[in-house]
Amino acid sequence: MRPIILIGYMGAGKTTVGRLLAEQLSYSFLDTDGMIEAQERRSIRTIFEMDGEERFRDMETALLEKLLEENLEDVVLSVGGGLPVRDKNRELLKKLGTVVYLSAQKETIVERVAGSEDRPLLQGQHMSEKVEQMLEIRDPLYRQAAFAVVKTDGRAVQQIAQEIEQSVVMGHEIAKNG
Ligand code: S3P
Repeated sequence: MRPIILIGYMGAGKTTVGRLLAEQLSYSFLDTDGMIEAQERRSIRTIFEMDGEERFRDMETALLEKLLEENLEDVVLSVGGGLPVRDKNRELLKKLGTVVYLSAQKETIVERVAGSEDRPLLQGQHMSEKVEQMLEIRDPLYRQAAFAVVKTDGRAVQQIAQEIEQSVVMGHEIAKNG
């Protein structure tokens, strides 16, 4: 099967849901942040501090190009929240697999990422405003890239993973009204 790719804002649950989904399907689980950290031997936070965001975005694009050449199968891939913002990356994602957008409302995100120190874009004050502004820009882009949108607010990880499995693996498209 083509890879299942989970996109969405920080705190949407991509990693947690992705791991469970992979386990249920006996797929491998991969995540772009983890792969970039392993390849660079430094944390995302350090990459942002030393090289800046643009350079990190280049690393994400290069990684997608590499994964595309590998013709991945039976993989759940979770990608960093900002990766689908680049036009080129959305094109690459669509070629690479079936893209599912895990959507979450601002309040849910703020609750989930509160206190997280390894997310460079959410450091400092006014977190709620930052999330709101970024969501406004990103939500339409995530929808452009997605085959399906799955709501995550107030739902258990198992429930979300099951919905993805039913829609993607069983071939039913979920209406894009998430
Ligand atoms: C980012 C999301 C992070 C990570 C980096 C930038 C973003 O990944 O790639 O901090 O721009 O939204 P998660 O979405 O897995 O937290």
